[in-house]
Amino acid sequence: MTEMREIEFAPMALETLAEAEGHVAVLVDGEGTLSPGARRINRLTKGALARAVGSDAWGKLKDGEALRLSYPTGMAAEAVHLLRIARRPTITTARKAGASLAKAVGNGALTLLAENTRRVDEIALGLALRGYAFTDHLSPEDTPRGTAIVQCKDPDPVAEGYAPKAAVAQGVFFTRDLISEPANVLTTSEFASRLQDLSDLGVEVEVLEEDKLAELGMGALLCVGQGSDSPSKVVIMRWNGGEGAPLALVGKGVVFDTGGISLKPAAGMEDMTMDMGGAGVVSGVMKALALRKAPANVVGLVGLVENMPSGNATRPGDIVTSMKGDTIEVINTDAEGRLVLADVLWHAQEAEKPAAIVDLATLTGACVIALGHENAGVFSNDDRFANDFLRAAASEGEGAWRLPLGDGYDSQLKTLKADMKNVGGRPGGAITAAQFLQRFIQDDMPWIHLDIAGVAQVAKETSFAPKGATGWGVMALDRLVRDRFERG
Ligand code: BES
Ligand code: MN
Ligand code: ZN
Repeated sequence: MTEMREIEFAPMALETLAEAEGHVAVLVDGEGTLSPGARRINRLTKGALARAVGSDAWGKLKDGEALRLSYPTGMAAEAVHLLRIARRPTITTARKAGASLAKAVGNGALTLLAENTRRVDEIALGLALRGYAFTDHLSPEDTPRGTAIVQCKDPDPVAEGYAPKAAVAQGVFFTRDLISEPANVLTTSEFASRLQDLSDLGVEVEVLEEDKLAELGMGALLCVGQGSDSPSKVVIMRWNGGEGAPLALVGKGVVFDTGGISLKPAAGMEDMTMDMGGAGVVSGVMKALALRKAPANVVGLVGLVENMPSGNATRPGDIVTSMKGDTIEVINTDAEGRLVLADVLWHAQEAEKPAAIVDLATLTGACVIALGHENAGVFSNDDRFANDFLRAAASEGEGAWRLPLGDGYDSQLKTLKADMKNVGGRPGGAITAAQFLQRFIQDDMPWIHLDIAGVAQVAKETSFAPKGATGWGVMALDRLVRDRFERG
């Protein structure tokens, strides 16, 4: 069980402030106006808070950042944090404020005097998102994580507003847990069994095993996993909360990518435990939708495989036949994600008849070179759909940047002996990967491909996540569903 912070909303209790253990935080606006809670702390600390607000350090703080007063006299607390936040913060600054507080407080107990600040629910979400830690494989610590108590003038409506956000946070944590797990733990079978648990939340879960995948003709997907002892699987998760044709979310779930016979270099290969990141995000979104009982129809499909070298692994030069019927010459067995997605995308369209498709994949190193760790690559055949997604991502503070598609790029996939090859050379590597996927998208199907290779797991902390798995995309897709696919 991964650690996260319990968050409780309670009425204001300024009379007990002197005795509060751990950390106390108070919100102060840009002008340095002191709220009743701040004035109370100022009295207890004999004016320390007013001096802090008059200091140079305070003047240099950005909105959403905190100033720390350690071991304040007159209080039992270890520290008082002055969190600078505008009276009407944007969603992202409110979240960032909560996240910077989570970072400052670490494992300690927290009393946050939110009083009647706006967007307290977003501050709480930031607190939750940044307070996550993947501790499953660490020896247990004897100091458990303290509770966060958020004191509000009127706690009930705040708690009510926070409930759907807590659902999304749970989805983000599910994604981060899956991405963080090593490949000896998160095998294809273990992944499928964790997804099967979503049925407790009302998600209809179906697992297609190898014999069924062979019967469906998924020669592209199956050729990726044939060198591994772990069986390839496709898991379908249906959330039927609405009406009409569903939105389909399709994810690359390579539980480990060695490169196969086109073996990757040793340095950094351990990062390929995150090559199931697309499937991880799809799973997290399904969990969030189910927990908040979203009035929408959404189907998630993930292709779970392991790319290993062995005596029966696919060789460079092999020609396989996809479920669509197109043949593919496998020039490089390390360009495996597109082979998996080709068949899952085709099956999604044939079997689920969706209204639109979004696929997610840690697909190319080229996308990391192009956009770094700040933005995922966005590719689409539909400007309106793409813009809706970009807007959703921007309002959730998740970086996303559109890159082009075009026939010229598509022609890089031509080969003599088959309908296409699985690599398009070095120029525009993220784009030619997207072109490959587009060959498996039927005419008029609105489609977005998200290359999340640079954002799924990062070596530095982000605004909302500690170093490691970010859960990038869960919040953006949850919002896309809310804005575009919910009834009423
Ligand atoms: N899983 C990798 C892409 C990747 C790279 C994800 C870095 C996250 C971080 C993918 O399967 C891959 O190996 N792609 C190759 C494609 C190439 C052989 C055309 C790549 O990007 O080098
Ligand atoms: Mn690869
Ligand atoms: Zn891969």
